[in-house]
Amino acid sequence: MSTKTETLIKPLEAPLCGTTSVPGDKSISHRAILFSAMAEGVSELSGVLDSDDVQSSIVAVQKLGAKVNLKRQEDGSLAGTIEGWGEKGPKQPSEPIDCGNSGTTARLLMGMLAPWETEITITGDESLQKRPMRRITAPLMKMGVRFMPDGKELLPITIKGTSQLKALKYDAPMASAQLKTAVLLAGVFAQGTTTVNEPSPSRNHTELMLPEYGVVTTAAERTASVKGPSSLKGCKVQVPGDPSSASFLVCAAVLKKGSDIKVENVSLNTARIGFVRTLERMGADVLLRHTGAAGKEPFGTIETRYNGVLHGCEIPGDKISTIIDEVPVLALVAAFAKGITVFREVGELRVKETDRLAAVLEGLEILGVDAWIERDDLFIEGQPGLQIPEGTVFDSKSDHRLAMTWALAGLTGNTSIQVSNFDSVKISYPRFLQDMERLVQ
Ligand code: S3P
Repeated sequence: MSTKTETLIKPLEAPLCGTTSVPGDKSISHRAILFSAMAEGVSELSGVLDSDDVQSSIVAVQKLGAKVNLKRQEDGSLAGTIEGWGEKGPKQPSEPIDCGNSGTTARLLMGMLAPWETEITITGDESLQKRPMRRITAPLMKMGVRFMPDGKELLPITIKGTSQLKALKYDAPMASAQLKTAVLLAGVFAQGTTTVNEPSPSRNHTELMLPEYGVVTTAAERTASVKGPSSLKGCKVQVPGDPSSASFLVCAAVLKKGSDIKVENVSLNTARIGFVRTLERMGADVLLRHTGAAGKEPFGTIETRYNGVLHGCEIPGDKISTIIDEVPVLALVAAFAKGITVFREVGELRVKETDRLAAVLEGLEILGVDAWIERDDLFIEGQPGLQIPEGTVFDSKSDHRLAMTWALAGLTGNTSIQVSNFDSVKISYPRFLQDMERLVQ
């Protein structure tokens, strides 16, 4: 049983002003490491996020035989090379692969190991052992992969792949980039075309990156395919800044009077910047400037100026995948907006690092904000000028996005608060507090 430690978060002494950047995108960093490990030859990576989750991917591929030579740079990112296992395949590790807190590592590994006749056990921390895996094992079993024990939903799970993978046309029951990626990675090694159709479009980094690794990939709004049998060849990947990390700085500037900030070199992939569209709908002053592309990933600057006008809005279910990791922090912003904000069809939040839907309701209740769930829709009745009660303690549930969300209430609010297990920010954004404080000069 983990013990709780509380961190005191004091209100910022001045508005957030100036220009900054955020660490590398977590989703692209994972993929750069995992795809390079599968590839024949050497890949060159730069701008890779150095966080606990990404370290889980690095350690996993090292245990499977990839040669990782990434060094920490002055800006805190990782850069260097990875020599993949290529045609040889991964080596049989002597112990289970522990993916820590990282769902992306565990789920993508299942697709990566599908074409090899190794027998590898995948496990993770307390949180990851509670997260659903059948969404990945079910389609992979249709392709010929075996999982043991049979039909098990939760980690640890042992995977035994096959060199005779069957191509699959799969209608995914939910929009999940992790599911889509696992199936496509297996599909690279199957005979024929493997297709994943989605109910709404999930993030598309895999479809954008696989062609760089030499895999014939086609993609449209809610569908992606790979043509097998094929293989990955080492390439160069430059990782842009993480929009999900940037969302915390942007939301802080939206909430803190007098703020005016620019966040540079952020991925502006449309599948990831739904939070900007949501803030615009709420009346916030947010501007995007495209400045370039890293491979096929567009990047640029997000500019935000506090304007004190926020009103509720409705986010339809088919847009939720574009804000899937930002719903908690947007829910906090909605708590300060005039009127009701509705997030439609956010049931997927129940199976993230913790049940984020329940956690958001719990935190908002502590703030005295009326919030409720009807079926899978989240309703928040905002209170402009909301005052944080003295002595507030938030429970992060050891979930990085909740830790940063509740910290934001303290940083931009009227009084100090405490957040339990705040150090979970190391999962995606270790320098979150420093970046925030650097903008207050
Ligand atoms: C991710 C996909 C999303 C997201 C997660 C990272 C990825 O999960 O919530 O933080 O890198 O593919 P789902 O695919 O389960 O929606």
